[in-house]
Amino acid sequence: MSRMSRFAAALAGLGVLMVAASAGLAQPPARATPKPGYVVPPENSAGLYPISGEPIFKAKCAGCHEPAIGRAPTRELLAGRSPEEVYDALTIGVMRTMAESMTPAEIYGVVRFITGKSPVPQTAQGPDPNLCKTNGPLRPSGPQWNGWGRDLANSRYQPKPGFAAADIAKLKVKWAFSYPGTKNTEPLVFGDRLFVASMGGKVYSLDANTGCVHWRFDYRGGGRASMSVGKLASAPSGWALYFGDDRMYVHAFDAGSGKEMWSVRVADHKVGRITGSPALYNGVLYVPLSASEESQGNVGAYGCCTFIGTVVAVDAQRGKRLWTQSILGETPHPTRKNAAGAQMFGPAGGAIWSAPTIDAKRGLLYVATGDSYTEIEHATSDAVIALDLKTGKIRWINQVLANDNFMSGTINGPLGQRGPDYDFGSSPHLVTLATGKSLLITGNKSSIVYAMDPDTGKTIWQSSKLGSGGAGGGVEWGSSTDGRIVYAPLADTPARGRPGLAALGATDGKTLWQIDAPKGVVCNVPSGRCLPGFSQASTAIPGAVFAGALDGHLRAYAAADGKLLWDYDTTTPVDTVNGIKGAPGGTLDMGGATIAGGRVFIHSGYGGSAGANNLLLAFSVDGR
Ligand code: HEC
Repeated sequence: MSRMSRFAAALAGLGVLMVAASAGLAQPPARATPKPGYVVPPENSAGLYPISGEPIFKAKCAGCHEPAIGRAPTRELLAGRSPEEVYDALTIGVMRTMAESMTPAEIYGVVRFITGKSPVPQTAQGPDPNLCKTNGPLRPSGPQWNGWGRDLANSRYQPKPGFAAADIAKLKVKWAFSYPGTKNTEPLVFGDRLFVASMGGKVYSLDANTGCVHWRFDYRGGGRASMSVGKLASAPSGWALYFGDDRMYVHAFDAGSGKEMWSVRVADHKVGRITGSPALYNGVLYVPLSASEESQGNVGAYGCCTFIGTVVAVDAQRGKRLWTQSILGETPHPTRKNAAGAQMFGPAGGAIWSAPTIDAKRGLLYVATGDSYTEIEHATSDAVIALDLKTGKIRWINQVLANDNFMSGTINGPLGQRGPDYDFGSSPHLVTLATGKSLLITGNKSSIVYAMDPDTGKTIWQSSKLGSGGAGGGVEWGSSTDGRIVYAPLADTPARGRPGLAALGATDGKTLWQIDAPKGVVCNVPSGRCLPGFSQASTAIPGAVFAGALDGHLRAYAAADGKLLWDYDTTTPVDTVNGIKGAPGGTLDMGGATIAGGRVFIHSGYGGSAGANNLLLAFSVDGR
């Protein structure tokens, strides 16, 4: 392969259109200055990699990836990732502890073995082919879906979708866009602009009407937490785009131009990350922290577990930390040695996977936490917790399940009583009922939805057990609510539980209707890992609810009775506005549909063990 065609292939692998090649403009990758951290070994200079990745993979990776165990993707699925992504996973991402003892050349070797391609320094990637011709001013008064739940109460409800429930059957793809990455943010709508990012290390500002590119920011790493736009005095446009990434950095970009205004690492933990979206309120970003220790605990040399769920408040103007609050008034202490002789620690866990909910009236911030990682008692795992907005001080804790001690895969040493993995992965909704009474409502992976008193934390009602729940089951990423009905998606597998969607009355948690995921669906998720579960967060509008499933289908149901209104298979190949012919989507998970200005936006192709294809779709009535 010539030098140039190798570059073309690398870019094609990244989903970058090679218009330049056909126009005779293609340049070999100029020896661009690699971004800090991209260590290009000397062997790379001639495109040669004398270090073979195969024996390294066999020795260090195959144990979990071939055959794949637990949540680990198969080698075949890893082959579909971009080389940058695998490189980042090994150097700064979830696999960094696995590659700790490897040299840069060994890392390059294993990346090439897995993907068949060399990681290209990001600066060598050209401009996007569909740049917008003009970059008009931001339109803050335009349609909005800003932040994870659209509002501070995290309702995930769009009262003004710009189309009626009766028109849902006519929704068609208006435009599609594909870019590197797997797990991705929810598309943020701010007037005519759309902001998206993924684990591929790029943040995009697109035109919401056409999908043309206003700007792109390449950074090292990845992120999937939803973003927020807020006022920033120092930003040329007056507005900042805030984004928390997978290495616990929070970035502020000028929303108009993509210029980075500030970036700060909010905490220090080897495998800490930001998965839940930072909540922006009154000039402060409330950043929830989680970690990947649940997958690291099985690595012999890793001294697990030292992470405890934490919230960091950051001044949105300057990026200065205002307060840091661990949810447990205790630091992990040395406990025992594991089989490999590594020192273990506990208590640990209680990661915060979802966006905090803001209660301006009570001056409180609510977070929901995940399971405990060790056998040491953790009083705030699987809990909903209220913190003081100003100081971070904990006001109340409602732990719904104690001793939910969980590690993915095999257990590295004794966990004691092993728990069922009933994390809270979804944000609490702050609901005001018709009676004027407020409730904090959220479900967890047990497949039970809880309503708590926001003043005291006391449980007011809990739903019936809607399915089986468990690791990968129950309510994973979140429900939505119009204030009267709570739409809880269930990620269960059919063998064990009830995949589908339940509608509950907000006042009492009684089931209004519950539909099962359709059977016999033609599923074209590229990995072939076809599960019917509704793991993705749902999104409500007046009269209807949208829910995405692991089988790649985005469906809409009538609020009144759960009747199916619309079903679109997002794996259907489409031509994208950035020039990719027949780009397929994949599985739907985590962040759900965002709806504003007459459009429905969704990312298809969530990564992990279900494979990746990062396709962004914009739907409108009749594709207008
Ligand atoms: C102890 C088991 C284990 C070993 C050893 C291991 N992995 Fe993994 N790997 C996992 C698990 C589990 C996941 C899924 C993590 C998650 O989704 O949180 C994963 C995910 C990944 C991913 C996807 C990361 C992402 O962000 O989605 C890549 C790439 C990867 N592994 C590469 C490797 C390579 C290369 C090696 C060898 C150097 C390796 N892994 C060794 C268990 C392992």
